[in-house]
This record gives sequence, C-alpha cells and structure tokens, in this order.
Amino acid sequence: MYRSHNCGQLRISDIGVETTLSGWVQVSRDFGGLTFVDLRDRYGITQIVFNMDDNQDLCEQARKLGREFVIKVSGQVRERSNKNPNRPTGEIEIEASSLDILNASKVPPFTIEDESDGGDDIRMEYRYLDLRRTPLQQNIRFRSKLALETRKYMDSQDFIEVETPFLIKSTPEGARDFVVPSRMNEGQFYALPQSPQTFKQILMVGGFDKYFQIVKCFRDEDLRADRQPEFTQIDCEMSFVTRDEVLKTFEGLTRHLFQELKGIELGDFPWMSYDDAMAMYGSDKPDLRFGMEFKYLNDALQGHGFGVFDSAETVVGVLAQGIADDYSNKQMKELTSWVQRPQIGAKGLVYVKYQGDGTIKSTVGKFYSDEVLLKVLQDHGAKPGDVLFILCGEEEKTRKQLNELRLEMGRRLGLMKEGDFKPLWVIDFPLLEWDEDSERFHAMHHPFTAPKVEDVDRMLTGDHETMKSLRADAYDLVINGSEIGGGSIRIHDRELQSKNFDLLGFTKEEAQAQFGFLLNAFEYGAPPHGGIAFGFDRLAAVMNGQSSIRDFIAFPKNNQGRDMMIDAPSPIDQTQLDELSIALNVQAE
Ligand code: AMO
Repeated sequence: MYRSHNCGQLRISDIGVETTLSGWVQVSRDFGGLTFVDLRDRYGITQIVFNMDDNQDLCEQARKLGREFVIKVSGQVRERSNKNPNRPTGEIEIEASSLDILNASKVPPFTIEDESDGGDDIRMEYRYLDLRRTPLQQNIRFRSKLALETRKYMDSQDFIEVETPFLIKSTPEGARDFVVPSRMNEGQFYALPQSPQTFKQILMVGGFDKYFQIVKCFRDEDLRADRQPEFTQIDCEMSFVTRDEVLKTFEGLTRHLFQELKGIELGDFPWMSYDDAMAMYGSDKPDLRFGMEFKYLNDALQGHGFGVFDSAETVVGVLAQGIADDYSNKQMKELTSWVQRPQIGAKGLVYVKYQGDGTIKSTVGKFYSDEVLLKVLQDHGAKPGDVLFILCGEEEKTRKQLNELRLEMGRRLGLMKEGDFKPLWVIDFPLLEWDEDSERFHAMHHPFTAPKVEDVDRMLTGDHETMKSLRADAYDLVINGSEIGGGSIRIHDRELQSKNFDLLGFTKEEAQAQFGFLLNAFEYGAPPHGGIAFGFDRLAAVMNGQSSIRDFIAFPKNNQGRDMMIDAPSPIDQTQLDELSIALNVQAE
C-alpha cells in the first residue's frame, strides 16, 4: 500500500493515528538532531519529522532526500509545537518510523513553488514539473469542474452532446487552417476544424434540435495571451429559436457556472449594440467594470482657432476622476509618450485638469479661455479633481486609441477590481466588412450568419453601399473586456446563403465546391436555427481574473506555436513524405 491518507487530509483530530503517505519532497530542512520534510501531493502538504534520537539510520536516510524525490513515509500523527496557520494540515506533523525512496529526482531547473523562478520557455519545456505547482494544479482542476458543470447545465436544458469530426474540409472562420495530408488520396488534404460550425448546422437539419459539444478547435493565427492555436469551445446550436432565446439560454449557462464554481451571483447582462459600444468605448468588447465613457467634444472645442482640433474628424475624450492634483507634469508627459507609442499611434494627448481648487490647467490653455474649458468640463459631468484626456483625428482610429487610453487609465487607477465581473451582450454587429486591400467584403462573424430580418430585402436588392450598412443577427458575450463567446442566427434559406457567398466573392462553382453539402442540405427542410460558441479556456481564465489562457491548458503552445516539451512541430522523415507524395522545396531546419 502506498498510502492510507493523502498529504492534505490529516488534522488535529487525527492525533495518534498511524499513517502512510506518499508524495514529492517539496523541501527538506536539516536541524542536526531533527530533519523536517514537507511532503506534497495534489491534495496538500504535510510536514514529516525524522528524529535522530529515535532512529539514527532513518534520519541519515532522510538527510539525503533531494527536492522532488518521490517517497513513502509511515509514522504517527502528532501535534506540532510551532503550528502553521497558513496550511490546512499546519497543526500536525508525522513522526516518521519508516521511509522508502520510491524514485530519486534530478534537481529541477526551477523552483516548484506558487511563484516559480523559471522563465516561460523552461517551464513549458518541463511542463510536468510546472504542472506540479499549486496554481497550475488549481487551474486544471477548475477547468475540469467547469467542463462538468457545463455538461450538467446543458443536459438540464435538454442539449445532446455530439462529436463532430476533426479531419474535415476547411471552415471559413477567418483564420488559416491547419492542414493534414491524406496518404490514401494523393495530393489532397484535410483541414482541422476552426470550429464545428457547418457540422452543427447540419445536425440541426438532421433534427437534433439542441446540440452542444466541448470541443477542440484549431486556428493557424497570430498568437496572443488569450489565443492558442488549439483551444476549446463550448459549442452549441439550437433549432426554432430567436436571438433572445439563445441569449437567455447562455446567460443561464454563464450564471450557473459563476454560481457553482465561484459562488457568485452575476448582476445584469445589459445588451449594447455594436454601434453604441464603438461610440461609447471604442471597442466591441468594452470592460464595464468602470465607466469613463467617451465624451464627444467636436461641438464644444472646434472653431476656437486650435487648428489640430478644427481639422479633425473627431475630438473625443475621457474623464479620469480624482487625479488632477496628484498627476504631475512628468506623469502627463509619460502618458503622452504612452499614447504615442506605435502600438497606439496617437499624435498627441491633450488634457484639461479641473484642479481641486476649481482652477483649470490645460495643454491647450492658449487656445481656450478658462470659461470655455470649465463649461466643457461641467457639461460632461467633471468634478474638481478630474482630468479630461482628449484625442483627435480620424473617427475610427481615434476611438481605438482612446479605448487603449481608457483601459490603461482603468489599470493605473485600479478600476478593474478583482472579483468584480461585468458581463454584457454586444448585439447587432455589421454583417459585412469592406476590406480596402483585397477590395472584398468579409463576413464579420462568418458566412452563415443571417442578416437581421428587417435587412433581408436590402441585402437581396441593395447596391454596394447598402451592403456596408447591413446588420447581422449576431451577438458576443463579453465579460470584463474579454470576448468570451460569439454566435448568430444562421441563414437557413438556400437563396439567401447563395447571395451571401456571392457578396463574399465566391463564384457559384466555388461556393458549390466548398459548401455544396450545406447548400444541398438547405434544400431538404433546414429549420430556422442559431447558436453560439464560448471560448472555454478564456472563460476559465476570466473567471479567475487572468488574461492569459496558457496556464488553464495542461499542454499549451508558446507564442511561436511550438510545444516546447515534445518539440513540435518537427520535420518528418523522407519515407513519410514519400508516402504522402509531398516534395518539400524548403528543407525544414
Ligand atoms: P468565434 O470565432 O467567435 O465563433 O469563436 C468563439 C469563441 O472562441 C474563442 N476563441 C479562442 N480562444 C482561444 N484561442 C483562440 N485562438 C480562439 N479563437 C476564438 C473566443 C470566441 O469568442 N463557430 C462560431 C460560433 C458560432 O457562430 O456559433 C465561432 O467559432 O472566446
């Protein structure tokens, strides 16, 4: 028997119990006559004590234990003289009477503590060691419970989990596909799904009515903290539903998950149109943990002789509360350089300080009288102590820049409070996006998204400009500024779907070759349907107040898309290439 208890189990009520524990040596401390070992497993840490007076051989053996040795210890539970209130087992220790070394360990390349000293790449190379750290253990357990609670809720709502294939034809979700060569079909490739989009729609045609799947998706796109090349979705589709019913169901799922996993009752899920989100926050995923809505200042500040504002399409600002007297000139300069960084790209930053004593200080004081500036401040709800930050330029760009500044000020002023969760639905996205470079429309969500009912006629009969103004019956769930999920009501009519492909620049033949199966299915009684997919890794990270999804995935890839542990991707040998009829013209390193 390796253990009678685990390392997180024994308490003061167990004093006198004979126990056997197995685990890893977190740390060993030698005090001459006594050697203390912290023994760790998934459940916790228990202190073991070896006493030279009781058993010299055993103590000598214990002194040789290195970090991460795997051992089995037997002994009696006793009360500790100096208790550790930070550990559930901190009131007891095990007085060892036997020790077996089950496996030795090399010295690990980084410390296996809550805060490790290892850099990202080394921790990923030795992922099995990193996974032993408590934060990672907690994250992966959280993920497991998240999946379980998702399944419970979806089952309670009558959804059926159906697996869809991984070796498919490409699904156009906007990223590049990962492709897999077919040995039996020379020169042909499968694509790994970017999502099960077309399959779940086919399942609706197949009469499943309510489908879900916790499913891996694959996208060959540039990676960021909240993006991995393979990630997981809670993917869903429903028949005979309107948008409101989809939102209600998935608001229900979100509430259930927060309640069960965090014990949090979420507040309202406001609905905001895409246009309003862009106008008020310069982003389609606004962080609503704090206000700082945009203030449009064209009317108030143009026509006073300040050329920069006068010639700008948009003059727009945000109010930062209570910092006018604390923010030094140096900090203002630093903030100006911050918005001028190429990643943000603002030309400059104007501020108007409404100082605590009621006086005004501004970078544009030369062009505006204090009365004008005071009126602007007061008209926009400023109080003494506030600062109005202003950017100007072309509308779309300026809004994006001000969004970055708003978020940065939110961070600097500690307005993104831990444990505060502010969800919202963003609705009524544009259906199509015009891309100047390729001179083509792209689907803002994906090509199967339906226009809003009131826009169908305009879509079928309108001109090029009309297409730019079409709205989609599409929606995103945003929590704390992170896009958790997105979905839409789908087109279920063959003609409308063909029109959409046409607008997206597919010829009839191309559309038939790529999506013939779906178009054909639509000719056999496709029900009206719609759905959504949540980013499972993102949801797990956001629920834990983190922006990076990497540590919620047991074996993630690094920013170059590499698995550092198994060293993938890697070249394959010539025999494999020959079997696949692939001739490389660039030899991989
Ligand atoms: P969409 O492309 O919006 O929709 O994806 C849904 C959600 O998946 C998450 N996500 C990602 N998470 C981690 N890494 C990535 N690379 C990544 N890409 C996306 C996001 C996103 O909101 N088929 C549609 C859904 C539908 O219409 O029903 C789809 O995949 O949280």
